Amino acid sequence: MKASADETTRERDMPTVNEAPSSGHMIECRDLTKVYLSGDQETHALCGVSLTIDPGEYVAIMGPSGSGKSTLMHILGALDNPTSGEYYFEGQEISEFSDDELADMRRLRIGFVFQQFNLLPRATVLRNVVLPLVYSGIPRGEREEKAEAALRKAGLEESHWTHLSNQLSGGQIQRVAIARALINDPALILADEPTGNLDTKTGDIILETFNELNDKGHTIVLITHESAVAERARRTIRIMDGLIVSDQRNGHHRAAAVAAPAPVDAAAPAETAAAAGETEVVS
Ligand SMILES: Nc1ncnc2c1ncn2[C@@H]1O[C@H](COP(=O)(O)OP(=O)(O)OP(=O)(O)O)[C@@H](O)[C@H]1O
Ligand SMILES: [Mg+2]
Repeated sequence: MKASADETTRERDMPTVNEAPSSGHMIECRDLTKVYLSGDQETHALCGVSLTIDPGEYVAIMGPSGSGKSTLMHILGALDNPTSGEYYFEGQEISEFSDDELADMRRLRIGFVFQQFNLLPRATVLRNVVLPLVYSGIPRGEREEKAEAALRKAGLEESHWTHLSNQLSGGQIQRVAIARALINDPALILADEPTGNLDTKTGDIILETFNELNDKGHTIVLITHESAVAERARRTIRIMDGLIVSDQRNGHHRAAAVAAPAPVDAAAPAETAAAAGETEVVS
């Protein structure tokens, strides 16, 4: 579905974090492929991936190195295009988005957390978090308020906010990266191996933060190659050689997560599948 030309601000029409889009799915992929060409060599990174993710879900994507996880995340985040297939984000085919609409989608609807932290080492924590808003036209005071709220949500102690990011521990840096991803209160958080560079204890604390964000209504897609990390999510999709090989609800149900204000029609399939102990192979 193409947005009409007179629809000047997508922002105004965008659902807030807890509202379901009209189609019900936040993400719907049909038969995505991705072929990388380098020289005369072709790499088939995705070979026909179909999946849906509903608002309020917490999904782990697992698979061995080179299986296509980051490729899929880049497509889901509109950082890259598939070679073929369809990708609907909040009910709209993203190949039909204009460049401005894509930029808005990435800036306003999605927060990215990468394995490499990508912070400016000689800028303060607050400066790093506020960065995505610098060209947004939002007044400085308001930008800083948003940054502080995001840092609180990401669980970084206030005493660290004026530190330079190269004066922080790995776990603290990752909290800054999460705060930066949260600054626009994105509906969807895409995290690629967010605990890959952290020790187990610090990684656990970061994963707890993701659970809390999910409880607050953020949809989370987290990439990992560790099953202990995937188990923290509510659903695990396994990918191998560019194909989904399993897609299952995780056995546990955290009380707070069940009570989260997810839309009724989005939560229903999850509950049903979990009750049935269903393991569905998508492709
Ligand atoms: N820009 C690129 N150009 C060429 N080939 C690429 C490119 N990016 C990824 N690939 C190839 O595509 C395949 C999938 O890569 P991808 O990065 O998606 O794997 P991954 O599952 O994220 O692996 P890892 O766990 O090591 O991060 C690999 O064979 C990789 O070498
Ligand atoms: Mg990767």
